[in-house]
Amino acid sequence: MKIYLLEPGQIYRVEGPARIDVMEGSVYAVGAIYSGGSHFTVLRARKLAFKAIERAKVSVTLGPNAVLELAKPGEEVLDEWEGAISKLALSGTSIVIGSIDVGKSTMTAVLANKALLNGLRVAVIDADVGQNDIGPPTTISISRVTRPITSLRQVQAEKSVFMQSTSLERIWPRAVEAVKRLIAYARRTWSVDAIIVNTDGWINGREAIEYKRSLLTELRPNNIVAIKIENELDEIIKGYSNVTIVRPPPAARLRTKEDRKIHREMSYARFIFPLRELSIDLDKLPLCGLGLFRGVDLGSELRAMASRIVNSHITYANQAGSTLYIITDQWISRRIGAFKVVGLPEGFERGLLIGIEDSEGFLLGLGVLKKIYYDRKKAVIYTSSKTERAMSRASCIRLGLIRLNENFEEIERVSQLLKYLYPSDELGDTMRGAGSA
Ligand SMILES: Nc1ncnc2c1ncn2[C@@H]1O[C@H](COP(=O)(O)OP(=O)(O)O)[C@@H](O)[C@H]1O
Ligand SMILES: [Mg+2]
Repeated sequence: MKIYLLEPGQIYRVEGPARIDVMEGSVYAVGAIYSGGSHFTVLRARKLAFKAIERAKVSVTLGPNAVLELAKPGEEVLDEWEGAISKLALSGTSIVIGSIDVGKSTMTAVLANKALLNGLRVAVIDADVGQNDIGPPTTISISRVTRPITSLRQVQAEKSVFMQSTSLERIWPRAVEAVKRLIAYARRTWSVDAIIVNTDGWINGREAIEYKRSLLTELRPNNIVAIKIENELDEIIKGYSNVTIVRPPPAARLRTKEDRKIHREMSYARFIFPLRELSIDLDKLPLCGLGLFRGVDLGSELRAMASRIVNSHITYANQAGSTLYIITDQWISRRIGAFKVVGLPEGFERGLLIGIEDSEGFLLGLGVLKKIYYDRKKAVIYTSSKTERAMSRASCIRLGLIRLNENFEEIERVSQLLKYLYPSDELGDTMRGAGSA
């Protein structure tokens, strides 16, 4: 612990874990003001800048590997950010967009704190499926903010929607729907006035632009806050006048793809803990949006016939509507006469990330599929004990597009499943667009 005397306007940068106790005067950090007797914390491996608004005396406690440094003039964007957003009316919806590691999560916290300071009831939505700060990876999550925060990681998801993957490529229409649904929920259930939406850093390419523009047209946010390095957001914000543009903090930490992957893997483990092994009856708790194991099972004779037609061994088959689902030795997606045949290779389910959903389509918890006993329609899954306790409210199990190993390491994106979960006629333009890109 060390005492510092700060002159008005002086800016320090701190990398956590750290705790700053304001003893006298007042200090600005991440959109909130801390005066004598209050304190804020900086999480491990996170950085933030704080500034003395008036002469201040602070006591700084640094944890392992924490760093405190005085910022050089012009090195921090805190005043620029504050200037740009100070006049925004934050009731309604605000959305933060930008590439990766530009400070989107930090800006989301700044806006949430500002809205709080203005006396509004505030919720934040984290729509960053790769690096979600408030909920598990592969989700879009919402939480209320009731006191000032220095990082989005200080609030926990109160509702989440499972997005099945760490990237929204080819599945983003569901993300737009999920954000809308969470906003409606927050308005209805919590009567929040201000909703701040954080987004993922996927901004390059035609599909990413289409996704972000679709978010803007569907949410019609009151404020768009764009954190911009060069002209990378121009296509997305074209035509909008309610855009506030700021630049990223120059000293922001850049993380590698590998860093991000490790962070996610630790998150899966954290959210699927303590681990429980459950046996699920898929007759009672079906797969969401997939006819596999529904309808009627094919007897051995029909199975043999189907086997000759597709020219592969069939372990299990069921007919749901005009689709024939088979567990076989390869991925098959074929039309045979009036039937659509969907084939999944035996063992396709091993290690798939799953989301257990309630009747409103909200996530009760993540899990991992260990094995399905096809003829008995029994699935063995791993999930957390918290999710186990919520199982009575479960309505279906949604398959993810990510395969994990026992250590929760991502080993594969199972893109073949996309075809079955999102038949091309349902995905419409998206699939066609992605296919031709
Ligand atoms: N003023 C700052 N100076 C230096 N680093 C910062 C500052 N503000 C935030 N950071 C760090 O920069 C990194 C990226 O910020 P973050 O808000 O997580 O960006 P994004 O959500 O766009 O990935 C984080 O590690 C964060 O702690
Ligand atoms: Mg972020």
